[in-house]
Formats: sequence, C-alpha cells, structure tokens
Amino acid sequence: MSEELWDRVLDAQEATSSASQPDFPRTMAGVRGPLTMKEDVNSNVLPEKDFADLWKEEDKVDLAKQSLLNKLIHRSLVRNRNQVEVLQRDPTSPLYSVKTFEELRLKPELLRGVYDMGFNRPSRIQENALPMMLAQPPQNLIAQSQSGTGKTAAFSLAMLSHVNPDNKWTQCLCISPTYELALQIGQVVEQMGKFCPEVKLAYAIRGNRMERGKKIQEHIVIGTPGTLLDWCSKYKIIDAKKITMFVLDEADVMIATQGHRDQSIRIHRQLSQDCQMLLFSATFEESVLRFAEHVVPDPNVIKLRREEETLETIKQFYVLCREKEDKFAALCNLYGSLTIAQAMIFCHTRKMAAWLCAHLIHEGHQVALLSGEMTVEERAAVIERFRSGKEKVLVTTNVCSRGIDVEQVSLVVNFDLPVDMDGNADNETYLHRIGRTGRFGRRGFAVNMVDSKYSMDIINQIETHFNRRITKLDTSNLEEMEKLMS
Ligand SMILES: Nc1ncnc2c1ncn2[C@@H]1O[C@H](COP(=O)(O)OP(=O)(O)O)[C@@H](O)[C@H]1O
Ligand SMILES: [Mg+2]
Repeated sequence: MSEELWDRVLDAQEATSSASQPDFPRTMAGVRGPLTMKEDVNSNVLPEKDFADLWKEEDKVDLAKQSLLNKLIHRSLVRNRNQVEVLQRDPTSPLYSVKTFEELRLKPELLRGVYDMGFNRPSRIQENALPMMLAQPPQNLIAQSQSGTGKTAAFSLAMLSHVNPDNKWTQCLCISPTYELALQIGQVVEQMGKFCPEVKLAYAIRGNRMERGKKIQEHIVIGTPGTLLDWCSKYKIIDAKKITMFVLDEADVMIATQGHRDQSIRIHRQLSQDCQMLLFSATFEESVLRFAEHVVPDPNVIKLRREEETLETIKQFYVLCREKEDKFAALCNLYGSLTIAQAMIFCHTRKMAAWLCAHLIHEGHQVALLSGEMTVEERAAVIERFRSGKEKVLVTTNVCSRGIDVEQVSLVVNFDLPVDMDGNADNETYLHRIGRTGRFGRRGFAVNMVDSKYSMDIINQIETHFNRRITKLDTSNLEEMEKLMS
C-alpha cells in the first residue's frame, strides 16, 4: 500500500477519533490505549514488519501429529452434506450404495459391534465405500475425504468382515504412518470386533520383536511401514503371498514421511496379484495421486469434497494499533463492551501467544493456550476443555489450531494477521480461521489487529480476494462499537 493511502487511513482514523471522542481512549490500567492520531502524526510512519522473521519461531506442520490430534478431538462424524463423487473402474456395472448397515449382510456379531459403537447408519463416504470393499470378486478402492468422515471405521469393518478366522494366518495388512495412528486403528478394530473374539489382531510396531521364521497366526496385522516390511521380508513371520486385503491408511501423511513411501512399495511388491488394495487419504495432491495409482491398480475412486467455508455470516472488522500493548488494550475494550460467548485469538508466534495469555490472565480472564511445544495429548486436552466451556478464550498459534471447529466461537481475533512465506495475505488460512460451514452457520465477528502499513495492505488483499468489506472499528468508541457489532 502506498504512503498516501496509509495517510488516508490515518486521516480517517483521526476524523472519527476527534469527532466522537475528544479525549484519549479508554485504557486498561497500566496499558496504553489504541493508536491515536496525535502519536501517528508526530511519528509520521508506522513500523514496517519483517514478515520473514515471523516464521522463524514456529514449527513446520507435522502431518502425522496433526492427524493424531484430529483423531483425539473428533469424537463424532464430521458433518458433510456434499455429494460423493464416484469413479467406477467399470462404469457399466451398477453402482451400489447402502443406507443401512443391514444391507451389507454382515455377520451378526460384526453388525452388533457396529451398533455397539453407536453407529446408526453409514456415513456419506461409507454408503459407497462399504459395498465396494465387500464386493465379490474383490475390487480395489482409492478414497479421499477429510479427516473425521468415517474412512478408518469403513476399512476396519471391511477387514473384520473379510477374514476367515478358521485360517490361522495373516490375511489383512494395514499400513499406517505412525505408531500412534496404528494404535488408533487397532482400537477401532478391537472395538468393532468385540463380539468376534475369534478374529485376532497384531501390531507391527517398533519394539514388538518377533521370532524369526515362525509365522504368526493373527488374521489382521496393523503397523508402520518399516516394521511391517521387516515382518514380511527379514523375519518372514508373515507370508505376504497369503495376504488378500492390503490397506494403506493416511496415504498423504505416509508419503510425506521420509522412507515410508518406498517401504510401502516394497511391501506392496511382495503381495500376490489378486490381493485387494485399498488406499485412504484426507487430501489428493498430485504426489498422493501418483502414489495411489502406483499401488492400487484398476481402482474405483471415491471423493468427498470438504464443505465450503464462507464469510457470509461473519462481520469483519479491523482495528488500528501500534504495538502489542495497543492490541491488548483493544482486545480488553472489545471484551468490556460485548457479550462474548467464546473467543479464539490467533497469534503468529508462540512467544506472542504466551505474552498475550499471561496478560489476559492478569486481567482476570480464563484462558486456554495452545502452543507448539505441547504434546498432541496436551493439545487435545486443552481443546476439550475449551469445547466444554471451561475456558472462554483460546489463544493459539496457527500451527496449533488447524482442525479446530470454530462453529461455537462467536469472536475470532487475528492478533497477528495470517501471511504466507512470501509475506502476502494467506487467504486460505484467513477463511479457515473465521469461516463457517453450511448455509445456516452461526453468526460471528472477526476482528483484525492492524499494526503497520504492511498489515493494512494484508487487510486490503483479503478484502479484494473475498470481495467483502472489512470495516474499521475504533474500540475506544464504545457507542460506535456497540452499533457496529450489534
Ligand atoms: N457410520 C458412523 N456413524 C457414526 N459415527 C461414525 C460412523 N463412522 C465413523 N464414525 C465416527 O466418526 C469419527 C471419525 O471416524 P473415522 O473413521 O476415524 O474417520 P476418518 O478415518 O475419515 O478420519 C470417529 O469418532 C468414528 O467413531
Ligand atoms: Mg482415518
């Protein structure tokens, strides 16, 4: 943004400040109030930001951790009203979909296990995926849908239904990217197979040492690629030629991990030609697709697009601030004048999040903090507490917040604006932070803290991108604020 435009922004600010509010803004004890014109005019320029610096502190997103976090916080199905797209290997064959689990003609003990988990009917993706996975002769399947839509439950059911317990050898292999995710799958299989005690399960994970050459009898083996490869080739405790169902879960996470792609392919090579191949992924980038096509010949493909998020029901504002103290004061003003059910506040760095959290607590707020150094389990616990309303404010960095459902949150504050590595507006993250899914998404407010010309430019980019106005808000002007935010 040009200097003149920034000046115009500041002029506008001065006009409103002086018209409606002759005095200095209301401030919190010991904290400077929001940016005022006097200061701006005197210092003339606002600080420039070095956005590259912002990235240094934060970790890169760890896909496997993210996936595990999703597992821990998603206790139920993720709503998705989109239509499933199905690409059949043989387009002339009839397309089966089921609306009930009965239609699948499962063993009664297995059906009981499904109902015992509280599943009443198949999820969107399961409606199509289950008949395909259970079809005779077997069909290969590639399925993609966001986390929480029922993929793991679907292939767990397929594995349990597939095995013949009288055959005392391994019939299903399931590869998962990490130890923790493998255990998660195993828990589902165990729970669903609760009334089928004759079906046995083993975990091929690091530390599970086995005797060489003696074949194991477990019907289903779930594990990480390295250990599974060892079990098949080095220890020869699984006869890969006898495997009749091969499942690759979280393929996108898998191939993002060094070495896992090749190990998976080496296991795959040992399987017999007629082994049924099933691959699941939350995303379908080019690299995932190429991998999928390589390991799953002649597949049926099922895709379920994520429900679009919109800004339709969100009122968006920005507040001019100079430094973090101003942002904090603005935040306190917002809180002082609005009835806010729950709020989420985004900071760019852990350090900023910790600073803000400490100050909010000092002001008497009950605050939850999500931070990069926390374990996945700790994060899940914090999110759970926030969800149940034990804390009304959640302070987080972007890396930590992915996957958190914001539907219940009435105020989202971008304490720092979302920017990409090149320092441009990160529109996707912006939408993800404040957008709501579904046509009847609840109303909400988004407040953006603008602390430099650079960040004002980001706001303009976001406005242009979404073609929706972001209104200036003077948090020191109570009357105006109440009017705007009502
Ligand atoms: N048909 C269903 N009905 C109700 N809940 C389901 C159903 N299928 C799965 N779930 C639940 O939804 C959540 C997500 O399922 P999961 O299979 O882990 O999804 P994904 O593998 O796509 O992430 C889990 O808590 C699971 O128990
Ligand atoms: Mg899954």
